[in-house]
Amino acid sequence: MAMKVTYSCSATMQQDVACRVIMVSAQQWPDLALSLSPWSDDGMLSALMADGEFSAKSEQTLMLHAAGNPPRLMLVGLGDEDKITKRVYRAAASLAVQQLRQRQLSSWVFDLHLFCADTVVDVADCLFDGALLELYRFERYKSADPTAACSNAADIELCCAFGAIAVNVLPVLQQRLNQRQIVSTGVCLARDLVNEPSNVKTPIYLAQTAWQLAQDYQLTCTLLGPAELERQGFGALLAVAKGSICEPRLIVLEYKGAGDDSAPIALVGKGVTFDSGGISLKPGEGMDQMKMDMAGGAAVLATMSIIAQLQLPINVIGVVPAVENMPSGSATRPGDIVTSLSGQTIEILNTDAEGRLILADALAWVGKKSPAQIIDLATLTGACILALGHHTSAVLGNDDSLAQALCQAGEATGERLWQLPLFAEYAEQIKSQVADMKNIGGRPAGTITAAAFLQKFVGQTPWAHLDIAGTAWEEKGKPGQPSGATGFGVRLLVEYLQSR
Ligand code: BES
Ligand code: MN
Ligand code: ZN
Repeated sequence: MAMKVTYSCSATMQQDVACRVIMVSAQQWPDLALSLSPWSDDGMLSALMADGEFSAKSEQTLMLHAAGNPPRLMLVGLGDEDKITKRVYRAAASLAVQQLRQRQLSSWVFDLHLFCADTVVDVADCLFDGALLELYRFERYKSADPTAACSNAADIELCCAFGAIAVNVLPVLQQRLNQRQIVSTGVCLARDLVNEPSNVKTPIYLAQTAWQLAQDYQLTCTLLGPAELERQGFGALLAVAKGSICEPRLIVLEYKGAGDDSAPIALVGKGVTFDSGGISLKPGEGMDQMKMDMAGGAAVLATMSIIAQLQLPINVIGVVPAVENMPSGSATRPGDIVTSLSGQTIEILNTDAEGRLILADALAWVGKKSPAQIIDLATLTGACILALGHHTSAVLGNDDSLAQALCQAGEATGERLWQLPLFAEYAEQIKSQVADMKNIGGRPAGTITAAAFLQKFVGQTPWAHLDIAGTAWEEKGKPGQPSGATGFGVRLLVEYLQSR
């Protein structure tokens, strides 16, 4: 984020800002319209209400000017009180920020006086979340255009204050907002990495990023290059990397927030910096989007940096197998058989099913660290988009309570997960005539057979796999999610780890 966001909490309404923003439910609106001086004084608000121009329906906004201070009022509808959820608050804040930006207003105050003391912190947290995620733009490669309404190249400093709140709540609110800014900055880091084009974002680039994060936040970083990967027997990972002139890296970040006797939670993220398909080349149309095939890895790196800043009392190990999948004279061919790190052999029938190959070795490697749980995130299958579209990610695994806990974390952060079954029968589809398994399972249940493949490398450790193929990238842009990388999974992982 090129933009700087400063924020403050205050028990009185901040005066020196461009706009006061009030989120109001349909039930609260009639009272507010009568009592919000100076705007209600000449009956303007009740007139607005009477002719139904603004009725506080959700996604409704209204900007008013007055001779008051602040000189503008923005009303944002929350709709029916009974239907208000965290999603509604986030979306309302995103919508408000969209409007403020279009008008090039760079300071505002969220007026919280309509919320009671026991919910106001959660509400403000959601509002800040929705606002910060909406503010993100990827503009590193755009020359500055000061007239562009949505540009942050113009270096505006956004000030966002939270006013009208009980004094005793202030320190709690301040702390929550501090945490929220750390998390949002992490989400935006993940977005930056995913949006970065693949001519810049090589496996080594990801490794250097991880190294820098380790310096900044006191993490331990270990990087394995081709020679070491060869020596240890990462046959599946190396088979994917072979076709590219970019060297692969296994990136490992370790965070220690608990004693040595506490088994770490392992996070594993797919880090294919570009997925051309390899010799099983993808069609040209839309291939550019495959720069996002390291979104799982980006989510893991970002999450590691966040939990280090939040100082969570747990041990976590993050692993990102980083490779580029390219066709060339040295590339893996369909039909090649390789020996994975686990010792199991794999018949590679389609070089475009590369994610599971690199994850197989990463999962086997981290399994040797005796983790308490393994959670992997990957833009793994197009089939997942067919099943769940772009609003929900799939979760699968060998431990239903872990899957359910992740679903809950996702519900809390607005990153929805839906569990797919992983019955033993699905593994039939990846049986090979000539090796221990093959890397494709045919058309039926492509997301499940991919997970069944991964399962062969996790053993008995409680494990969950998130297929984020449909949610890592947003084509058009929606509230809180500008077009491009979404940063999906970061907030969910942080929420899950915090809840432990
Ligand atoms: N990275 C892709 C999956 C993908 C597709 C992610 C679209 C995001 C958007 C993955 O490596 C892939 O190519 N999967 C193949 C597997 C198939 C060959 C068994 C697929 O889904 O077509
Ligand atoms: Mn692929
Ligand atoms: Zn891929």
